[in-house]
Amino acid sequence: MKRFGIRGAILDFIADPQEQAKAWRYFDDGLLVVGDGRVELLDSAAKHIDSLKDQLPVFEYPDCLICPGFIDTHVHYAQTRIIGSPAPGLLEWLDTYTFPEELRFQDPEYAALVADEFLDECLRNGTTTGQVYPTVHEDSADEFFAAAHRRGLRMVAGKVLMDRHAPQGLLDGEDSGEAGTERLIEKWHGKGRQSYSITLRFAGTSTRRQMELCRRLVDRYPNLLFHTHLSETLAEIDWTLGLFPDCSDYLSVYEKYGVVSNHSVFAHCIHLSESEQQRLADAGASAALCPTSNLFLGSGLAPIKRLADQKIKLSLGTDVGGGTSFSMLQTMHEMYKVAQLGEQGVGPFDLFYLATLGGARALHLDQHVGNFDQGKEADFVVLDAGGSNLSQQKFDRAGSVAERLFAYIILGGTHSVRETWSLGRRVWQRDSE
Ligand code: GUN
Ligand code: ZN
Repeated sequence: MKRFGIRGAILDFIADPQEQAKAWRYFDDGLLVVGDGRVELLDSAAKHIDSLKDQLPVFEYPDCLICPGFIDTHVHYAQTRIIGSPAPGLLEWLDTYTFPEELRFQDPEYAALVADEFLDECLRNGTTTGQVYPTVHEDSADEFFAAAHRRGLRMVAGKVLMDRHAPQGLLDGEDSGEAGTERLIEKWHGKGRQSYSITLRFAGTSTRRQMELCRRLVDRYPNLLFHTHLSETLAEIDWTLGLFPDCSDYLSVYEKYGVVSNHSVFAHCIHLSESEQQRLADAGASAALCPTSNLFLGSGLAPIKRLADQKIKLSLGTDVGGGTSFSMLQTMHEMYKVAQLGEQGVGPFDLFYLATLGGARALHLDQHVGNFDQGKEADFVVLDAGGSNLSQQKFDRAGSVAERLFAYIILGGTHSVRETWSLGRRVWQRDSE
């Protein structure tokens, strides 16, 4: 199907609602025309439907909301099977559940199996792009890219770099970090819709030698993203500063090794000092906020409004398996509640922005995805009440777009995703499951 129309309520963003008043476009009866997998037109249906309906098939979605596919900027595919594993905190959770599970990914067959389970789960939840952690094993990244490439999904990933403070089977050898990363970049970066992120687990599981390797990789590949964790729990911060005693705060460890730039994405960013926030903003780095994980592991409450006011680029991540849901609607929901306990000032437009265009900007993919500008890849999701009377009555009485979005955030989830489309192809349909 080369050219077709999608008709229904349509929402997307052209800017960050925290920075610009009219940051979004909404059509109650909108038309999205897709040709060869790309957006040709977004407008009100009334203007075009008479002239177009004889020229192309138009799929009608009354009572649905169509928005760009969700972008999950921080998630671990290798942790799909340990979602919902309780622990007193992050470091105990890593030792008890995460490292033992990640050891299994030395088997490429297991990696391929879980990669497919993970991608199914993403599509079931309307997530069309993710920045994804495999494990330290080169094959685990290779199998992930292969699975995403086969399905034509736009994904970002990178073999995890780690060489201490974990079981032996999860540690890079003398040369595997550098050689493995180089081979994967060569094979996958820019192949179809795949791109490579230089991926460090976090400072605590890398020696100084490996941190120096990160510097070299970032210098060698300045257009690639750099992805890691930062300031997730207080215990992690204490431990990290003990390992790098010459650094005065957590961010300065990454600064010391030259990996903080407008291409870095730091997951969590909960317990940052004023100075660290300012330095992140000055570098143009971005923070991937992961509220379901932070609540589940008891890590803390990310100060989303303060980070936004500091002009730090923000996005949302599920952080599965520390995170408890693949659903970006559920992630928005928890982010809203976290903001309510903080400085507030975060609303439904902010949250939908973070899960779409905000994510694309954080990953430097906004020339490809994130909204319905002409020429962008047609990745989108069709949302509805999912058979819930409670949601339907809430939509029926919503007096504004904001109220309708809010109903999706608070009452929505996996069940709300009727269809997911990637590059103009329907890749998930709830009612045919
Ligand atoms: N910090 C280092 N590794 C991890 C991980 O796998 N999950 C989370 N949430 N934080 C981390
Ligand atoms: Zn994580």
